[in-house]
Amino acid sequence: MKLPGASEFRKALESETAALLDGVLDAAESRELAVYAVGGPVRDLVLGKQVNDVDLLVEGDDAVALATLAAPPDARVTSHDRFGTVQLRAGAASIDISGVRHETYAHVGALPRVEPGSLVEDLARRDFTVNALALPLSSRALREHSGIVDLADGITDLNGGDLRILHSRSFHDDPTRVLRAARLGPRLGLSLTRGSRTALRDALRDGVFGRVSGDRLRRELVKIFDDARLGLDPSKVFRLLANWHVLGALEPGLDLPRAAVVPLRRLGRAIAAPPWRSGRWRSWVSGLNIWLAPASPALRRRTLQRFSVRGEVARSIGAFSKSSAGWMNALLRARGRGAIDAALAPLSEEELYSLYSLADPKLRRRIARFALEDRMRRVPLKGEDLLAIGLEGPALGRVLNRVRIAYLDGALRDRDEAIALAREIARQRGTSKPKASGRGGRR
Ligand code: CTP
Repeated sequence: MKLPGASEFRKALESETAALLDGVLDAAESRELAVYAVGGPVRDLVLGKQVNDVDLLVEGDDAVALATLAAPPDARVTSHDRFGTVQLRAGAASIDISGVRHETYAHVGALPRVEPGSLVEDLARRDFTVNALALPLSSRALREHSGIVDLADGITDLNGGDLRILHSRSFHDDPTRVLRAARLGPRLGLSLTRGSRTALRDALRDGVFGRVSGDRLRRELVKIFDDARLGLDPSKVFRLLANWHVLGALEPGLDLPRAAVVPLRRLGRAIAAPPWRSGRWRSWVSGLNIWLAPASPALRRRTLQRFSVRGEVARSIGAFSKSSAGWMNALLRARGRGAIDAALAPLSEEELYSLYSLADPKLRRRIARFALEDRMRRVPLKGEDLLAIGLEGPALGRVLNRVRIAYLDGALRDRDEAIALAREIARQRGTSKPKASGRGGRR
């Protein structure tokens, strides 16, 4: 099999990213530096998959100096000093550059101590053989290595569908790699090898997760749902983690409930091909809503603590199981688009996606129609119209909500009809004068 080289790598990139890479390589030529693409992007290129992130390694010089030299005028250079890595961004394009380094771990679960090292040492500190790959890009790198540097037969593993750790203590060094294995395996179509599963069992036996912080675990959870955009089914990741007895090791009693499997898969599809347009939303929160809904309130609370989910997000995930039953009921009983809108309007985008993923086809259609069309529609009324009727405060909100329901149900055509209805409701309720209590309307 012919392996891809530097020109195939460049061709696999978006044009903006390719231009940024050209700048880095020109700067590397002028200083005779050896530059390699490394890890995920090389693996994805060999697999013939889309190359998303560009990670570069530079030998024999400081990554910050190279990035600064290569940066076009509109670019931003951000340095992450602790690891000697630097990010170069211009427009939508971004490239990460690191100096080759050697890592040691003070204790299980700790962040690594990083020192300058050789290319081989840099590849050897990585998680899986399929990631211990480097593709020479600059002339100096190409003089040293004519093709892909493959430290541990990663290409054979890619072809054989194997996900294999580089050494038997890899999960001890960094237990979050277990979560990476459960995510990368199904995403890339690879299975964890028997030897790596033995190493995983040993790591669990040694209680490696005990010293991993909730923040690091949560960041891995976030990536599971982020990767759904690449076609990953999140339920497969949780299934693997459950089969490997990892969930129970993270928090006693934690599992993948049967009721969560199909909704998690559906959520994954909705992330990959959104049924409606959304602003920024946190897909992992929707995922946790679904995953933890069938658990007992105590287990849910402990799990959220374990993943260091705090504040309002923790409160809403904790309450989702109960609230979603109420929303589902309201949705089922709703007669007309106005009532559906009134039932769904209070939900956050995360809750809406969770509810959609849990619903049957009929209720999914209702949710999608609300999210796609109805929530964007505005009642043909102005605030001053209501003030002119003598409405204010909470009473104004309540009347407006009723007018909105009638409007979405198609019972009103224009502003005059809306004003007439508002006046009629206010008259019936005797609410032309404001009351002191009650909830306000939402728009
Ligand atoms: N890595 C590691 N151990 C970790 C995290 C990362 O050894 N806990 C290494 C892997 O070799 C990986 C590289 O660091 O290839 C870059 O990490 P990251 O960008 O997170 O992973 P990718 O493999 O590039 O995955 P993705 O395609 O999801 O970005």
